[in-house]
Amino acid sequence: MTPEHATAKQAENIDDMSDAEKKHVPLVHVEGDPSPGESFPVTVWVGEQLAHPMEADHHIEYVELYLDDTLVARCDLSWQHATPKVTFMVKADGPGTLRAYERCNLHGDWTYSLPLEL
Ligand SMILES: [Fe+2]
Repeated sequence: MTPEHATAKQAENIDDMSDAEKKHVPLVHVEGDPSPGESFPVTVWVGEQLAHPMEADHHIEYVELYLDDTLVARCDLSWQHATPKVTFMVKADGPGTLRAYERCNLHGDWTYSLPLEL
């Protein structure tokens, strides 16, 4: 974890997000029916409910996914060519917490977490 992670913004109410939250909160989706010890896809989508710009002066710089305190993977994004929606393959031995982070060059760090049930 970094200092930026500790101050990352979260949605106040995930079921009733503001427009800024809809654009920035990195929503996490576990795909399929994961089993302990087997890889499964986890998608992190920034701007799922309201698209975030990908322009030179305003864009998402990267997306990260943690399982508990371990970095699973990080993806740096090109504002010219990327959409801030990334699928990571994850392997877990048991339940935990999936936590995504993203950085907007204008609006800072945002996070979202989801329990992983195996
Ligand atoms: Fe932004």
